[in-house]
Amino acid sequence: MDESGLSRTDLGLFLDLRATDPALPDYRRLFQALRQAILERRLEGGSRLPSTRALAAALGIARNTVKNAYELLQAEGYLQGRQGAGCFVVELPVLDRPNTGLQAGQSQTEIAVVEPRHRDSPGLLQTAIPALDQFPHRRWQRALQHASTGAGLLAGDPQGDWQLRAEIARWLGAQRGMQVDIEQVLITSGSQQGLYLIASQLVMAGDPVLLERPGFSGTEDAMRAVGARVSRFHQQQLDRIEALPQAKLMVLTPSRNFPLGHTLPADRRLTLLNWAYERQVWLIEDDYDSEFAAGPALSAMYSLDRRQQVIYAGTFSRTLFPGLRIGYLVLPKALVPGFVKARRVVDGGLSTLPQRALAEFMACGDYSRHLRRMKRLYSQRRALLEQLLAQSALARLPIVDAGGGMHLCLQLPSHCDDREIMTRLESRGVKVRAISLYDEQCEPGLVLGFAAQGADSLARGVVALAATLAPLLDR
Ligand SMILES: Cc1ncc(COP(=O)(O)O)c(C=O)c1O
Repeated sequence: MDESGLSRTDLGLFLDLRATDPALPDYRRLFQALRQAILERRLEGGSRLPSTRALAAALGIARNTVKNAYELLQAEGYLQGRQGAGCFVVELPVLDRPNTGLQAGQSQTEIAVVEPRHRDSPGLLQTAIPALDQFPHRRWQRALQHASTGAGLLAGDPQGDWQLRAEIARWLGAQRGMQVDIEQVLITSGSQQGLYLIASQLVMAGDPVLLERPGFSGTEDAMRAVGARVSRFHQQQLDRIEALPQAKLMVLTPSRNFPLGHTLPADRRLTLLNWAYERQVWLIEDDYDSEFAAGPALSAMYSLDRRQQVIYAGTFSRTLFPGLRIGYLVLPKALVPGFVKARRVVDGGLSTLPQRALAEFMACGDYSRHLRRMKRLYSQRRALLEQLLAQSALARLPIVDAGGGMHLCLQLPSHCDDREIMTRLESRGVKVRAISLYDEQCEPGLVLGFAAQGADSLARGVVALAATLAPLLDR
């Protein structure tokens, strides 16, 4: 005992206790301090712990707190109570080495504390974000409320909620000229999961796959995750299609190339389909934001397919909000059972509530009303951004010619390093993307998002962009 009346063990515990998280209940803190002392062998196997009364008095805490901590330690097998003799520390095996959370063979590196990736409001000119300020919250809340009373509490169908699949099939028929059976639709947690499911179901390690360039990096990530051998192709290469290498599957964005926005014309679509039939190649149509193409909605390539060889991937990330995490695949019938089986393995199916709410949101016309409004709004925002650029010091930079969408591409002189510029802009709150991220062979350029930006943030974005870019243009 020292002069405070604590034994060495009690004093150690007292100090340990102070090191635990004060937000935890006291018995949890004492439990942690004792468990740590046992694991580090400061309290040895076989030794007797003080009585609850004595420890409570020594530490100046309630006796019940000590009792609860002892009970938890007993329940987890650190202590053993002996009738009339008190509580004893159990003999435990020694853990080999501190647990670093790393796999065998991995070296330990500093784990950086990173800022949360997503913030509540978009950065200036940030891409891939819809007009969140215009989202019809009340209508969505109504749909959620109905869904929460209507939906059962049991897990839903792993293929996805039937009503939602029915609404998607109806929507695709009306908007994209696609004949889709409800049984062909598989709900995913976004196109990204759809792409990964496709990779895991159709591609074996070492299989060659062809990805459009430029293109979304998440597609390549999904293919590489299963060990695919990735090659890239340009839409223009489809004019000499015989020269393309054999592949297990090909991923493309025929309605709007990502990020340049051009469309695959009918002759190339037909040539591609014939090539795919002949070579037995799956065609993956990633239709990520065709809803906002300028002019009338384009037909999907899927609608031309006669042999069920096109898999269509859609998402609500752009049309509603990215945090929804709902997308879908339209699969050839023969592939459905395998995908549903994989789905059960991955997550057992998605949460029922947002699926039901989305089904109602679509069924009552709120979805199409919202899209019509957004299409008008985005074309106004695009026009304003073009006008602001034309009035700025960046007026002579060409804009890649593709109307509509949620972003536009600004070409830079070939001496510019677009990634370095992107990083510089980021420090000014401007969240544009470098075109070379999508294809390092592309001429440098920047992808500027306008959908989520009101007039004021568009103006601020262009001012910041011009301040950074103008001095670099004539070097
Ligand atoms: C072309 C393309 N495909 C797929 C995705 C993935 O979208 P989701 O949010 O549905 O996973 C993105 C996301 O930016 C994209 O740009």
